[in-house]
Amino acid sequence: MTQTNRIAIVTGANRGLGLVITGVLAGRGYGLVIGGRDREALDAVADGLSRHAPDVVAIAGDITDMQVRTNLIDAARQRGGLDVLVNNASELGPIGPLLAFDVPRLGRLFPVNVGAPMFLIQMAAPLLATRRGLIVNITSDAATAAYPGWGPYGATKAALELLTRTFASELAAQGVSAVLVDPGGMRTRMHQEAFPGEDISDRPLPEVTVPFWTWLFDQDAEDVRGQRFAAQQKDAPWLQPA
Ligand SMILES: NC(=O)c1ccc[n+]([C@@H]2O[C@H](COP(=O)([O-])OP(=O)(O)OC[C@H]3O[C@@H](n4cnc5c(N)ncnc54)[C@H](OP(=O)(O)O)[C@@H]3O)[C@@H](O)[C@H]2O)c1
Repeated sequence: MTQTNRIAIVTGANRGLGLVITGVLAGRGYGLVIGGRDREALDAVADGLSRHAPDVVAIAGDITDMQVRTNLIDAARQRGGLDVLVNNASELGPIGPLLAFDVPRLGRLFPVNVGAPMFLIQMAAPLLATRRGLIVNITSDAATAAYPGWGPYGATKAALELLTRTFASELAAQGVSAVLVDPGGMRTRMHQEAFPGEDISDRPLPEVTVPFWTWLFDQDAEDVRGQRFAAQQKDAPWLQPA
């Protein structure tokens, strides 16, 4: 198979980290199926990318909607298959002490941050299996550090981490690999929402992760299976001169 007929799905691709990942994949010739709720922003991204990628299709909608997930998977299937699934779309929810947290809001955070990736993996697994494909689930250091105020979001990412490692074990026999990526703090809309009114200009733009993505998509998926990467790690293999 040549690189030009590889296909990737990236959720949350209309801005921030998802847009950066999408750009790296487009530069490598992947056909792309991209998601996000803001249709206008998503279409603008698709238009821009189509200059580089052989085929880009935008599927707008909420990732908790089964029809949206079905459309993402169907679009990949219609293009011949799936090599990479990036579960990037995520919601932060309110930042604040757990004692004041409106517990029913877990009923929104978990479906977006955990349920949607699980559904997509279940639906994508047969396609990924035929291409020994890779699942990339985006996590956060909030999954492992008990940051005051970040508990509910961190809990969703902690759940995603365990499920990703479990998927990695369970899907190995089918030749499908899964990894976790903590991108590190980045200057994005989500990060600004976490620090309303604060100057976050000292945080790097999500483009800081480009060396990592370039390195990751060069790896044999089976060599990275089950691993957790910190994209902004210092002295990392992806920062070493070739
Ligand atoms: N920024 C950081 O410092 C940081 C640190 C660690 C981990 N992360 C992780 O990095 C990933 C990307 O975040 P980001 O910082 O790039 O945030 P962002 O700029 O706010 O981007 C979030 C993306 O997800 C999409 N999205 C959100 N909710 C959605 C939903 N219900 N259905 C469909 N799409 C949805 C958004 O598009 P629409 O709003 O148009 O739907 C957008 O494309 C997330 O998984 C986040 O947890 C970020």
